[in-house]
Amino acid sequence: MPRIIAVANRKGGVGKTTTTVNIATAMAATGKKVLVVDLDPQGNASTSMGINKRGRMASSYEVLLGEKSVAEAVVWTEVPNFSIIPSSPDLAGAEVELIDIESREFMLKKALLAGAINYDYVLIDCPPSLSLVTINALVAANAVIVPLQCEFLALEGITDLIRNINQIKKRFNPTLELQGVVLTMYDKRNNLSQMVEDDVRNYFGKKVYQTVIPRNVRISEAPSHGKPVLLYDFKCPGSQAYISLTGEVLKRERELLAC
Ligand SMILES: Nc1ncnc2c1ncn2[C@@H]1O[C@H](COP(=O)(O)OP(=O)(O)O)[C@@H](O)[C@H]1O
Ligand SMILES: [Mg+2]
Repeated sequence: MPRIIAVANRKGGVGKTTTTVNIATAMAATGKKVLVVDLDPQGNASTSMGINKRGRMASSYEVLLGEKSVAEAVVWTEVPNFSIIPSSPDLAGAEVELIDIESREFMLKKALLAGAINYDYVLIDCPPSLSLVTINALVAANAVIVPLQCEFLALEGITDLIRNINQIKKRFNPTLELQGVVLTMYDKRNNLSQMVEDDVRNYFGKKVYQTVIPRNVRISEAPSHGKPVLLYDFKCPGSQAYISLTGEVLKRERELLAC
């Protein structure tokens, strides 16, 4: 079975999609077979991997509702070892359709158990909410990565997410772990970034990765070229930070598995 990691934060624009796509790319570069599940109706992970609307046979929406298998929805990307289940705008309505299903929290888990056995890692790019769709991701996951943008009120909403993770642990998924918290869009010329970093390290301690992702224009340019920044500009500081972060994530995975 693959290790399943959800990338979640109820806020939008904090770097969930960027983090998902680039960790996936760096993992794939080390020879791991990686599947990204795009669970955001906006589909930014799919478009930033160059998967246009026509290339999407089926989507995470049908997979979530049990209408299509993982194999039917998977699309290969230009990165070897990296495939993706694209999203569809229909996902925005999945919440309502899931309500009537008895095992509504377990739909994604069931689909991945049946169809993702040949992958080493599954990374789930969550929508910016604590909806039933995000709950499906957290129920399916072994671990969660939380990106936090270095800005005022970065920790706002995080207590809700942590409470949510603990509730899901209690009710549905006792082995769910917080893999770690990653600080994104760090600007070293800005005192606020340093203050946010101090606050977050105080609050989460060792759970915060040593690697901090800098604010880097190459990262924001990459999606419009349909590429992860690691392919767009390997040498830029953003790419180097994501390589270092992936090293830490894989190291923690080994530690979590050894427990
Ligand atoms: N480290 C960074 N430096 C500069 N721009 C970034 C960085 N990380 C993300 N971005 C940009 O910020 C926006 C939001 O990031 P995204 O990963 O889509 O966040 P989320 O998935 O949480 O909504 C995107 O336009 C992305 O390209
Ligand atoms: Mg996103």
